[in-house]
Amino acid sequence: MIYGFTMHLTLQQLRLFEAVSRLGSYTRAAEELFISQPAVSIQIKRLEAQVGLPLFEQVGKKTFPTAAGKTMYNASLDILNRVDQLKNSIEELKGTVKGSLQLSVVTTAKYFLPSLLGAFLQKYPDVEPKLKFTNRARVIERLMNNEDDFVIMGQIPEDDNLEAYPFLNNILGIVAPANHPLVNKKNITIEELADQRFLNREVGSGTQYVFDQILKDHGVKIKPYMELGSSEALKQAVMAGLGIAFLSLHSVQLECDVNKLTVLDVAGFPLKRRWYAVHLKGKKLSLVARTFLDYILKESSQVLGVEYE
Ligand code: PGA
Repeated sequence: MIYGFTMHLTLQQLRLFEAVSRLGSYTRAAEELFISQPAVSIQIKRLEAQVGLPLFEQVGKKTFPTAAGKTMYNASLDILNRVDQLKNSIEELKGTVKGSLQLSVVTTAKYFLPSLLGAFLQKYPDVEPKLKFTNRARVIERLMNNEDDFVIMGQIPEDDNLEAYPFLNNILGIVAPANHPLVNKKNITIEELADQRFLNREVGSGTQYVFDQILKDHGVKIKPYMELGSSEALKQAVMAGLGIAFLSLHSVQLECDVNKLTVLDVAGFPLKRRWYAVHLKGKKLSLVARTFLDYILKESSQVLGVEYE
């Protein structure tokens, strides 16, 4: 039985199975992998026939893994990762910069990372990037579990087991609509800001973490007017006049240029922090990951322009 099972298991079936499990839907897995939905069902049925147990159960419109499905999912992740690593190692032996590049990136870095990656891919078109944009808390989780080649973040956790490479400036300030009453005021104190309607990022955001630390250092308490899940949502809300927010100025560059938003002159702001590429100490980076890391360390300012210097 076991013999027959291993003999007939194909990587394509595992890829389909992984996608159905992750997305909880045959239709979405079919869309992601550019094949028809019936083709997915047939392959999953074949897989189930070999395993001898159902892998999924349908509850209402959702597809859930059975106990056998969960076991199979963990194994399929291991196998598919191993195959990716194998592909990368072979390319490395050939000396070609080719294969997968898996990165986790804090959401705020979406304002510059795609440009860096785009320029890099022009030079190395055979690299297959996989990006996960998520907030700081989740990026740290993935970093500690060694799920990526490396991660990009602004606020590194204190941990001796990490290797961090600073590569760009991250300037953070208090952003308001261009017609806000405090626009022309100089040297506003943080204490004065406490009465303003503040729009906050969600718990787990690196930007929010920095701001909370500053408030704590000043002994100032601000009751957020509203909490929103991304810097993009905050920016739109500030533009709509709902309040003011602490944001990375990279996320509001265009809006400031066309005078929709402005950066308030608050004492001690804007803050100058850095962006970092981070991985666990001792991690052996693939050739692709090493080349991209090298690229962002050396070329970022030139690709992105002066505002990051
Ligand atoms: P965030 O992280 O996008 O989760 O706010 C930003 C940062 O790490 O500086």
